[in-house]
Amino acid sequence: MNKKLIIKLILPIAILASGCGIEPQKVVPEPYILGQASFHKVCANCHGADAMGTNKAPGLIHSKYSEVNFSNKKVAKTIMNGSSSGAMPAQKNKVTQEDIKQIIKYLRYAQKDITPENS
Ligand code: HEC
Repeated sequence: MNKKLIIKLILPIAILASGCGIEPQKVVPEPYILGQASFHKVCANCHGADAMGTNKAPGLIHSKYSEVNFSNKKVAKTIMNGSSSGAMPAQKNKVTQEDIKQIIKYLRYAQKDITPENS
């Protein structure tokens, strides 16, 4: 196989692999789609599909992170600077201010699903 052919075969696979974040499982209404997409691109790798958590990071559909307990300002600050313990790295190079706004909007919508089992 010549080099050019190898590149032609490998490149699309590499692009696909790097471009596909975690896929959301839930369908959200139109106003939350942008935030859902950004969340799944930037955050879901650690926080899981639909923000349900992974072994890398906690789920965010929990009363601990609801608006009363964890304000929008605190969420934005966490995204910009990482968590205060340093366990979550800063994400400021991966998002715009508009992405942050949309992600928070999406998270607040998703948190409507908080039930006694996950609070
Ligand atoms: C590299 C993995 C990783 C990525 C990417 C990530 N997080 Fe986190 N996040 C963590 C970990 C780990 C914690 C737990 C931090 C702790 O306990 O200090 C956390 C905690 C949080 C918290 C709670 C912070 C606190 O002080 O308790 C919020 C809110 C949060 N993440 C939101 C987000 C959002 C929104 C995104 C996407 C813009 C994101 N995270 C991307 C790993 C990640």
